[in-house]
Amino acid sequence: MASLTIRKLDDALKKRLRLRAAQNGRSMEDEARTILRSAAGAGVNAEPAGKRRARRDAPAQPTPDADAPAADQTRRVLLIIGGGIAAYKSLDLIRRLKERGTAVRCVLTAAAQEFITSLAAGALAGTRAFTDLFDTASELDVGHIRLAREADLIVVAPATADLMAKMAGGHADDLASAVLLATDRPVLIAPAMNPRMWEHAATRRNLAQLVADGVAVVGPNAGEMAEAGEAGTGRMAEPLEIVAAVEPYLGALGGERTLAGKRVLVTSGPTHEPIDPVRYIANRSSGKQGHAIAAAAAAAGAEVTLVCGPVNLPDPIGAKTIKVETAAEMLTAVSKALPADVAVFAAAVADWRVDKPVASKLKKQDGVTPRLGLVENPDILATVAHRTSGRPRLVIGFAAETDHLIEHAREKLARKGCDWILANDVSAESGVMGGDRNTVHLVTERGVESWPPQGKDEVARALVARIAAALAGAPR
Ligand code: C5P
Repeated sequence: MASLTIRKLDDALKKRLRLRAAQNGRSMEDEARTILRSAAGAGVNAEPAGKRRARRDAPAQPTPDADAPAADQTRRVLLIIGGGIAAYKSLDLIRRLKERGTAVRCVLTAAAQEFITSLAAGALAGTRAFTDLFDTASELDVGHIRLAREADLIVVAPATADLMAKMAGGHADDLASAVLLATDRPVLIAPAMNPRMWEHAATRRNLAQLVADGVAVVGPNAGEMAEAGEAGTGRMAEPLEIVAAVEPYLGALGGERTLAGKRVLVTSGPTHEPIDPVRYIANRSSGKQGHAIAAAAAAAGAEVTLVCGPVNLPDPIGAKTIKVETAAEMLTAVSKALPADVAVFAAAVADWRVDKPVASKLKKQDGVTPRLGLVENPDILATVAHRTSGRPRLVIGFAAETDHLIEHAREKLARKGCDWILANDVSAESGVMGGDRNTVHLVTERGVESWPPQGKDEVARALVARIAAALAGAPR
């Protein structure tokens, strides 16, 4: 079988290929494959048209190559190893992740290579380790942009004070920092440094900035330091602690990516319907259940869009989050996010909005009580469920009720035209609104299934498992 090395192409061709690849958001290899595939397809027309169309419509999949450690279903971690004595623990971390079926690629900073070798990291990872931003061969083959994108999670361990400062400042003068600046993937750092450095105001500032930027942190732990006579907080978290911190981002390691290649749309949180510029109609929804569903679907490998109203929650890792205020905005965002294979409507959308919100703050006047006129909001779930074209294969609603739970849920299932309703009791005594636990009943055309009281994360995982089974053909 002939092989093609992009590095050996002439410069003009390479330049054009690089430009095309960048425009299409692909690596140069993937772009070359796409060109070859379409050229071959133009000449060879033996495949039935339906099959060809289905493949063309399918979302682009990264094509594996020798350096890409991931098959479709495999979780991929890019491990950035900073320069600290704790780097030796990162070698064990590679093993622990690999044992759990995770594909690992490593980037070592120059300082890391003073403590461990790229050979050791590469040997344990089973694929070469990357060290240089300006290494022509590796930039053409893989490159920092591809390293930044071809991972489900980036772990920085050890994250030294210097590396944290670079991340917080947006520097990109070496491979590690350039990858971290170029990535849109979740990032988890495991800081490790001398306790004084950890407590320094500059490190505190950098840490606060990183957390505000959505970076997750594990450790550091307190204890003896490598330097004789030094103790305090600054030891890197142990490899198994880091593995435990990785799990929420990738789903239970070793678990299956049951929704890989599927698009899932989730709504979450309340909506705020303005009365005037400072007042609004709202409800007590926290968004915890909807956000947990988005996170669980992303962990199962789905491409998730979360449309959420105003909540005090971090964006779920791995989901594209679109923030809205009102029901009308939520409907617009949902319509734009379609098509999807599955849509889960967990938002507590306000049933009514004020017919004429005023542009300036209503003034209190003695003896005059303002009267609000209300109009009904669009029913987003019903709108999507009743679509004649582009309806998701599975449309799931929630019924938050304070009485006659199942009866109301059944009625909603029929009226709104959805496939499933998750009914939950939201009376004050249930503690569901704003709480972390939920007791739900899955209401379908086939009947009612009552799930035990459990955490909202567990409800989310159970729902994702049911969705995956239904998409795979199990009875609904
Ligand atoms: O508020 P209601 O009990 O009717 O909500 C039932 C379901 O309908 C929920 O899944 C909710 O997200 C959805 N819904 C909606 N748009 C509305 C009202 C409710 O999508 N305007």
